[in-house]
Amino acid sequence: MSDTALPPIFDADFQHHFHDLLEWRRDVRHFKTDPLPHGMLEELLDVANLAPSVGLSQPWRFVIVDSPERRTAITSNFEQENAAALGDYEGEKAKTYASLKLSGLHDAPVQLAVFCDPDPDQGAGLGRRTMPETLAYSCTMAIHTLWLYARTKGLGLGWVSILTPDFINQALDVPENWQFIGYFCLGYPQQNDNVPELQRRGWENRHAPEILRR
Ligand SMILES: Cc1cc2nc3c(=O)[nH]c(=O)nc-3n(C[C@H](O)[C@H](O)[C@H](O)COP(=O)(O)O)c2cc1C
Repeated sequence: MSDTALPPIFDADFQHHFHDLLEWRRDVRHFKTDPLPHGMLEELLDVANLAPSVGLSQPWRFVIVDSPERRTAITSNFEQENAAALGDYEGEKAKTYASLKLSGLHDAPVQLAVFCDPDPDQGAGLGRRTMPETLAYSCTMAIHTLWLYARTKGLGLGWVSILTPDFINQALDVPENWQFIGYFCLGYPQQNDNVPELQRRGWENRHAPEILRR
């Protein structure tokens, strides 16, 4: 903190709104095609960069995917993997799976891949000696930060993991050793809801947390 800055006060109103934000953040798969305002994506990525990271290593690497050819290749990979995933289910579950929309790849104006640098110099290894996976955890913190901030701007984010990681590294021409964390669709949602889409479509419900006490 600088010498003069005072910490903000997160009062009861803010807490209430923050709770609403958590409750109304959604994984979005149905997007309007409207573009984001100029500079908005950069603002979101700057905010994502405020996330905690092991050793302050900031191992996240953001790749904005504009190329239509690369987008098409990734969409084809999603379609293949999604068809393969459908093969893992039978009966009613297969029917429900087939009815789900599991990406907004055709409509979202922004597509973004997130990778993790598996051995960043930054942070000098602090905190990850016994748990190298904390680098990947750090990347998901950045994604969640972006996810929430995007929602405050009326934007929706959709996580796409039904993809082949090695293929994505190749398709986006990034170093082989970068760990693929996820592919994201970003844009204005067609609708807002406080219930997950998978719950509304009968796939799964949100349950109370499992809490142990020792
Ligand atoms: C690591 C991760 C991977 C996910 N992959 C997908 C995906 O490939 N396709 C999809 O439609 N949703 C995906 N999701 C979104 C989840 O289905 C969603 O978060 C969950 O159903 C709860 O809904 P909510 O995010 O709206 O609360 C993913 C979420 C996470 C955290």
